[in-house]
Amino acid sequence: MGDKMNFIKNIQEDIRIRCESPNNYFGIGSYDHIKSVASHAVELAKLYNADIEICEIAGWLHDIASITDYSLYKDHHIHGSKMAEDILKSYNYPIDKIERVKLCILNHRGSQIITKRTIEEICVADADAISHYDNLPSLLYLAYKIRNLDINEGIDFVKGKLERSYNKMSKESKEFYKHKREIIETILG
Ligand SMILES: [Fe+2]
Ligand SMILES: [Fe+2]
Repeated sequence: MGDKMNFIKNIQEDIRIRCESPNNYFGIGSYDHIKSVASHAVELAKLYNADIEICEIAGWLHDIASITDYSLYKDHHIHGSKMAEDILKSYNYPIDKIERVKLCILNHRGSQIITKRTIEEICVADADAISHYDNLPSLLYLAYKIRNLDINEGIDFVKGKLERSYNKMSKESKEFYKHKREIIETILG
């Protein structure tokens, strides 16, 4: 397979290029989101004693379908797991590990009611949920610039979005990120 670090670096680079492409409907901010998901997925993998490599790779690849083609957004968890499989096979990544990465991508969406079976799936889904707390400027941009909300509507919109993300997480992850949540709540008032 060659050098492991190189292989994950290549995936990061591939994701960065897809994010920067004018074809990416979600804009360059999606790279910050994905980067933050990958880093929280590693952090949570350590907390849960999960497989760090699986969580990191799944974090980088979890939204690959939506940033590549907006028409895939609705089922991006399904398309994304297939795309991840093709990419990982091209690096001769072991088949059993590919299957574990695919499960993380398939079940990363809190909006999809699917029972998560592995701790790696929980790590990636919770990393996706908490990443919104790292991207406050993007949420404010969405509220005031894209949706044209007034001051109070915007605050309610952002708070509601953050609250729903937080509530999707497992009990341990909620506890782990309690402080981050308190800081953001203090800022929003
Ligand atoms: Fe997603
Ligand atoms: Fe995501």
